[in-house]
Amino acid sequence: AQDAQNALKALVGRAALDVVVPGTVVGVGTGSTVNCFIDALGTIKDRIAGAVSSSVASTQRLQALGIRVLDANEVERIPVYIDGADEIDHRGHMVKGGGAALTREKIVADLAERFVCIADQSKLVDVMGRFPLPVEVIPMAVAQVARRFAAAYGGVATVRAGVTTDNGNLILDVRGLQISDPLAMETEVNQWPGVVTVGIFARHRARLCLLGTPTGVQRLSF
Ligand code: A5P
Repeated sequence: AQDAQNALKALVGRAALDVVVPGTVVGVGTGSTVNCFIDALGTIKDRIAGAVSSSVASTQRLQALGIRVLDANEVERIPVYIDGADEIDHRGHMVKGGGAALTREKIVADLAERFVCIADQSKLVDVMGRFPLPVEVIPMAVAQVARRFAAAYGGVATVRAGVTTDNGNLILDVRGLQISDPLAMETEVNQWPGVVTVGIFARHRARLCLLGTPTGVQRLSF
């Protein structure tokens, strides 16, 4: 099953080359699906102006292939940001942050005209929340933010063991949520002191999802 899933990740990683705009800077996400995209991007590196990356890990992989990585502050607008997701619903809302890179991912997504999600079919859900929701939190606030999740949504938050983000913060994983109104939950949790980024991407939802299925790549537009 793992092999089959990896094959779907490779399939959509290659398919994403079609949405790259030649001569421009490409926004590059993080994770095992994006790693397949980065490897494919290496084959057309002379046709792009470089990349903006959402993690130290992706930056290293891009540079190892000879792709120029620009600082986010050096670019004003990029046509497309390509990234995976932990869950995506039928309107393009996503849960992200399984790889702990959610803050930088949202920053690069904000620079982009269009978010293109690449995912295998296991990520597509009706209601998000089965995958524990990642939230990046300043260490001093984790206990209070956990209490707020319990009080507001009945969620159970635990600190991800052994993980410090690229920004020096902690990740809370929140279980037991039913994210039926992603935009409302994103907006609310963003207000809580100490929350750096909530892993709900509703404001920055995907406009296109390239979904890997055993019969090929399905294009879902939102
Ligand atoms: C990284 O922080 C995440 O948002 C990833 O985009 C997500 O975990 C998907 O990763 P995979 O492609 O490895 O499933």
